[in-house]
Amino acid sequence: MTYQETDLIAKIDAFLTEAAIDPTDDPSALNAFDQYHAGGAAAVNLLIPTLQLGNESTVLDVGAGFGGPARQIARQTGARVIGVDITASYVETAQWLTERCGLSDRVSFEEIDIAEYRHDGPFDAAITMHVQMNIEFKSPWYRAIADRLVDGGRLAIWEVCRSGDQMPTWPMPWSLDGTDSFLVAPDELEADIVAAGFRTMEWEDASVWVADWFAALQSGGPPVGPALLDDGFTRVLNYAVALQDSSIVVRRGLFIKKSA
Ligand SMILES: C[S@@+](CC[C@H](N)C(=O)[O-])C[C@H]1O[C@@H](n2cnc3c(N)ncnc32)[C@H](O)[C@@H]1O
Repeated sequence: MTYQETDLIAKIDAFLTEAAIDPTDDPSALNAFDQYHAGGAAAVNLLIPTLQLGNESTVLDVGAGFGGPARQIARQTGARVIGVDITASYVETAQWLTERCGLSDRVSFEEIDIAEYRHDGPFDAAITMHVQMNIEFKSPWYRAIADRLVDGGRLAIWEVCRSGDQMPTWPMPWSLDGTDSFLVAPDELEADIVAAGFRTMEWEDASVWVADWFAALQSGGPPVGPALLDDGFTRVLNYAVALQDSSIVVRRGLFIKKSA
């Protein structure tokens, strides 16, 4: 199974201490490891304006990982963000990092499946970044997100799809051997989201943007941060190659929840 890493907090704490980083003063020092998707913090910056958030807004981050996107949204917009994720060690790490960043009053995380999640009142918006690749039955999963939004609520996504029949070489960041990977074509993903009760506002191929981001990353040398992921270097390299040989594409989407 993927997402099994442990000792994450100890590794991050040792890195921050060694590098004398205070993430409250310099949150961008976490970007190399708390943004678990291609495109890093710059990709989150593409999604934020589409959500039209203010400091009274509430946002749900589904599959929040280590919480980098959730904290970035809260910092930039003042919104309150709740992240849900099914991996206990990631949720614990996201909470810990959020305390270290001094954002616990506005950002929190829960270890729970979105289908089981209950909250007082609907959210204004949701994001989900690099998660649905692990979801076999996508429409019910997006339906569970829709159920937690106000009518007209916005959903921004940043996701990986396949472009043909060729599968990428494993391991990839979301799957070590392909057994927990459920890639679909962009049209199929969009149809699943629409079937879940959303209307498409924007649905664009961001693959070239991501390939440029990888090229800039490589020219800057290896990212500075703790090695958190098992076999992480190979997985990221395989992702960049799969993008180049077009076995995967990256899509940015904005969807609006239809009224019931
Ligand atoms: C590649 S990481 C992306 C994390 C985060 N969205 C980001 O971009 O930094 C995928 C995340 O999805 C979570 N995940 C996988 N299946 C999930 C599910 N059914 N429900 C919620 N989270 C899930 C994993 O635990 C992991 O944290």
